[in-house]
Amino acid sequence: MGNVLIVGDLHGNTAHALTLIQVAARNDCERVFAVGDFGAWEHMHSGRRYFDVVNKAAKRAGVTVYFLDGNHDKSSLLHELYDEHPDDEGFLVCRKHLRYAPRGHRWNWEGTSFAAFGGARSTDKGWRLAREARKAEQVAKRRGYGSSKRPDTAGMLWFPEEEMTDAELTDLLDADSSPVDVLLTHDKPRASQPKWNRKDKDECYPNQDRIQRVVRTLRPSVLFHGHLHVRYTDTIASGDGQWTRIEGLACDPEASQYLEYSSEHSWYALQLPYAGAQADGPAEAEPRSLPA
Ligand SMILES: [Fe+2]
Ligand SMILES: [Fe+2]
Repeated sequence: MGNVLIVGDLHGNTAHALTLIQVAARNDCERVFAVGDFGAWEHMHSGRRYFDVVNKAAKRAGVTVYFLDGNHDKSSLLHELYDEHPDDEGFLVCRKHLRYAPRGHRWNWEGTSFAAFGGARSTDKGWRLAREARKAEQVAKRRGYGSSKRPDTAGMLWFPEEEMTDAELTDLLDADSSPVDVLLTHDKPRASQPKWNRKDKDECYPNQDRIQRVVRTLRPSVLFHGHLHVRYTDTIASGDGQWTRIEGLACDPEASQYLEYSSEHSWYALQLPYAGAQADGPAEAEPRSLPA
């Protein structure tokens, strides 16, 4: 025990969550860490139920599930509900066996230092806002509301807090810029080059640049992220001759659109303490940094 199973996006998929908890138990991992798009939707009954089911399964398997926020997690509500309930390591306790790592959070497990930086840009923002508006119309029609009593569906499907602002990131890095061994994020750093990239779009670059900034400041040996829904490994320059290995993790089977998908692509069992890779430099992959 003592290891951590790092997992990609779950999108509230209960069956996949139960599979991952079993995989953790089989791999001597007493912790599962989800790198965003976990399915933090406690503004809905189904979301609260999902949290309860995950908590119960984790308790039964003797593991604790941790997560950072993706663009599809309502992180504002997590802060509203759980800011007053941090555990000894600073995670917000959503349920006894289910805990949230807020943006910029740092901690130490088995002599290995970690930091979490959630958030990303939703490329389907327009579609989500349109669906929220349509829902408001339907509810208003059903209830016979007048135009002045339009039901509020804002924040049901699209969450305005989805991306860090540059100012928020500056504050987090100013508060602590010391290096970490393992960086966990939802979004990719700008410089990594996955074999299949559904987020290679102008609107996605500002947040990828933020993650790149986190890499150059904290100089992690390894970074795990989700959001792209594809498994890949790359190596990028993190400055001053140092390198960061990038491990992109795939998502739950239902959300995957990648043809060569396999559910094993959605997790990585990290042995702790993590024997840092900085001394090794880049492996087979050609290291990359951003063009000047
Ligand atoms: Fe996702
Ligand atoms: Fe995402």
